[in-house]
Amino acid sequence: MITKAVIPAAGRGTRAGARHIPKEMYPVGDNQYPIIQYVVEELIHSGIDDILIITRTGKRVIEDHFSQPPEDLARLIEENNITFFYTNQDEPKGLGHAVLLARKYMGNSPFILALGDDIVKSETPCARQLIDLYNFYRGPVIAVEEVPEERVSRYGIISPEKIREGVYFINDLIEKPAQEDAPSSLAVVGRYALTSEIFDILADTKPGINNEIQLTDALQVLCKRRAMYAIEYEGQRFDAGDRDGRIEAEKVFNSL
Ligand code: G1P
Repeated sequence: MITKAVIPAAGRGTRAGARHIPKEMYPVGDNQYPIIQYVVEELIHSGIDDILIITRTGKRVIEDHFSQPPEDLARLIEENNITFFYTNQDEPKGLGHAVLLARKYMGNSPFILALGDDIVKSETPCARQLIDLYNFYRGPVIAVEEVPEERVSRYGIISPEKIREGVYFINDLIEKPAQEDAPSSLAVVGRYALTSEIFDILADTKPGINNEIQLTDALQVLCKRRAMYAIEYEGQRFDAGDRDGRIEAEKVFNSL
């Protein structure tokens, strides 16, 4: 059973003008709830009850939001008995490093990793779709979507082997490949169902692209050791850390 999740939200927002407002706190949708609230709601509706948020000094406002949440979120938290935990990632060492910080908290439990600025609008919550597939295959599952070829260099890209409609076996994956090196146009989006095996691998992973410890590099090692799956999830994803993504999300998100 997957009941734990981690949300990395320690980014520095160096590209944003509003430097001291964490981008996960930008308001979106008809209630103008912060982006990260939609991620948390998705997790709660997926059956998660323990949520670890990786933040950093100066992003205390994220913790404040969930300790004094808006009324409807407060109800959801109470009804589902949700517990929040926080830890800091104060050095910008990458997503892989952030995930490694969750090790002690996850122990041997499988868990959902949900990136704090990707939000997904779907019938079945995206994390739930991953959990259902995890329960079926008992192996790590990554959410993917087709992206235009000229955008492959922004994402982790998988080398897929189709199992059935929308489900793939992962032969390999590469972080932000050049267009000509991309093994497909199936891009990793910010939702993963992972097993604790990833932690030993991350502990041995050297900094990769951008001199950061890349989760994708560790996943590449993992997929050579054991069967790993990708799902073309049902739904629409928005990169709400990005202005265009936020404008699109504004049109479709209404909360709870
Ligand atoms: C991260 C991952 C990448 C993934 C992307 C999805 O990249 O490293 O593999 O495709 O999230 O949003 P980032 O967006 O942090 O550069």
